Amino acid sequence: MLTDGRSTVALRGCFEDPLLNAMNFLNEVVREYPEAISFAPGRPPEQWFDIRAQIDGIASFVDASRAADGVSLDRAWARFGQYDRTNGIINDLLARHLRRDEGIFVSPASVMVTVGAQEAMAVVLAGLFVPGRDLLLVADPTYIGITALARILGISVVPVPSGPAGLDPDVLERTIVDASARGRVRALYLIPDFNNPLGVTMTREARERVLQLADLHDLLVIEDNAYGMYAYDEARLPTLKALDRACRVVYVGSFSKTLFPSLRVGYLVADQDVDGSARTLAQELSKVKSLLTVNTPALCQALTGAVLMRTGGSLEPVVCASREQCRRNRDVMLAALGEAFSWAAGRITWNRPAGGFFLTLTLPFTFTAADVATCARDHGVIVCPMQIFSLQGDRACEVRLSFSAVTEQEIVTGVERLAAFCRRACAGERFSCPPSASSSSRPISTRGAY
Ligand SMILES: Cc1ncc(COP(=O)(O)O)c(C=O)c1O
Repeated sequence: MLTDGRSTVALRGCFEDPLLNAMNFLNEVVREYPEAISFAPGRPPEQWFDIRAQIDGIASFVDASRAADGVSLDRAWARFGQYDRTNGIINDLLARHLRRDEGIFVSPASVMVTVGAQEAMAVVLAGLFVPGRDLLLVADPTYIGITALARILGISVVPVPSGPAGLDPDVLERTIVDASARGRVRALYLIPDFNNPLGVTMTREARERVLQLADLHDLLVIEDNAYGMYAYDEARLPTLKALDRACRVVYVGSFSKTLFPSLRVGYLVADQDVDGSARTLAQELSKVKSLLTVNTPALCQALTGAVLMRTGGSLEPVVCASREQCRRNRDVMLAALGEAFSWAAGRITWNRPAGGFFLTLTLPFTFTAADVATCARDHGVIVCPMQIFSLQGDRACEVRLSFSAVTEQEIVTGVERLAAFCRRACAGERFSCPPSASSSSRPISTRGAY
């Protein structure tokens, strides 16, 4: 098309999808109201980043590779500047980290180092799904990184409504049966630990049943464990991958929350056998990665590798200070909610996350994207409507509160401000939520599938 002599570009239909704009929308609100306290972003607490020291570690990584390969230091540095193996240069260190911190026993050949967890998801979706035929099931609501990506790739997504403890295996089973009439259910995506956005954790029994269902119905499980190292209470439950005897789970990890997000290092574990190939699924998927990012930057891998070399593979000593900070923040937020919402006891409720960065606040009125700006402008606090994460368009009476990247004082003040907004909303009776709005007992809907 031509306008005033300049050509214009017609975008694909998916650009209209609100999913693709959700994060921009929140960022714009944060930019527009810089004085507001924001409980919106899922960021790690940056006061614990140790970037300068970790950059210095790159030299020790190169030196170790020089010693291992018996080359000169000059040669080791020169080689370090080259294109390198598509699936990564720190796979053995990652395999050791998985063994030590997650009880996951896999070979380095089953690991692919990626540009953040986001690329791991892109590799899996682009590599394993036939658009138009294959269906991706997702625990709903869920992280937009996967659903928006599926939308761009033209992969149909079917929501599996979550209950109070995350994905409910009974609901999953019914959804698999229902969806199988419409296409091949290829995989299920879920975040069993310290879920983003809900803050819930799946029980051990539910994990076992998900694996049984995956086996029974011949599907893969994409397990995203971005927050696994942030456990605050009792001992952690095993990940699905640690329980995965039948090789059903493709595991996605990230260093964004444990080291720092701009590092852009994540990974996937795909130890499955592949029809007609002697190579692992991770190795076969390198064909996809080689066309997305060629390889994950060696500088970033070396920084990560040096940290893992220094700690013997465990992230425990690296993450303990920021985890302690986040645990305190969670407790401060829980106490602040109890205090500020005492006038609404039983009407306004919230969950107690066992880890991670988020909790869910449930209101007796709808809180939509339009309310975000009102809340920021009139009350100086920014929160995230749960609805933006929901494929079914429900969860209208819930908000996600993030407590990881704010100070304790900001938490107390921000929660008081949010309570003031809620008082006004309740007094105005402007909105109201049906009691069942966030219940998992709703009939399964595939309306949200696209
Ligand atoms: C559940 C989940 N998975 C993956 C990511 C993205 O990880 P990365 O920064 O490694 O791409 C996030 C980021 O917030 C997340 O919440």
